[in-house]
Amino acid sequence: ADPEPLQDFCVADLNKPGQSGNGFPCKLVSNVTVDDFVSKRLSHRGNTSNPLGSKVTAGNVLSFPGLNTLGISMNRVDLDIGGLNPPHSHPRASEMVLVVKGQILVAFVSTSNVLYSKVLGPGELFVIPRGLVHFQQNVGKGKASAVTAFNSQLPGVVLASTSLFGAQPSIPDQVLAKAFRIDRGFVKEIRSKFGS
Ligand code: GLV
Ligand code: MN
Repeated sequence: ADPEPLQDFCVADLNKPGQSGNGFPCKLVSNVTVDDFVSKRLSHRGNTSNPLGSKVTAGNVLSFPGLNTLGISMNRVDLDIGGLNPPHSHPRASEMVLVVKGQILVAFVSTSNVLYSKVLGPGELFVIPRGLVHFQQNVGKGKASAVTAFNSQLPGVVLASTSLFGAQPSIPDQVLAKAFRIDRGFVKEIRSKFGS
């Protein structure tokens, strides 16, 4: 989904102050080394000791500047028993999920509100069309992990719960109460769990 590159590579210079555009400016080619094309970020299991029992380790251009202009990136998703990578969407990419370990329920919801879901095991793939809400849950008896791949260097994440109940400034109570057909008290209760 990203634009086509206009050169072999354009290793991102992430800290050129004041420079912005569609992507990142390139590091001088004479300063580029093989290490700009290597990332060890996904080599460790993420810490899943949190209320969701999950951790997504992002391998996008922000942690791996060599991806700049290449239109691809990967994440690592680690799930504790029952762990959930909660409903979210990526505005700039389709996603492939490769289950590496365990049994994972993978699902997305279409714009017609149809849920497409399947439990997958190691080596199995699932594709999530661009922009659609999706989630993964470990439904097996041991730890699980997956690798996800994207056709964008920076797919972006919209977390359904956090974008609605954790926005700063807050979305007004009466908006969420009416949207979800619940009392304002419930809105406050849910919001208190998303840090705002
Ligand atoms: C999983 O859905 C991910 O975005 O890495
Ligand atoms: Mn995703």
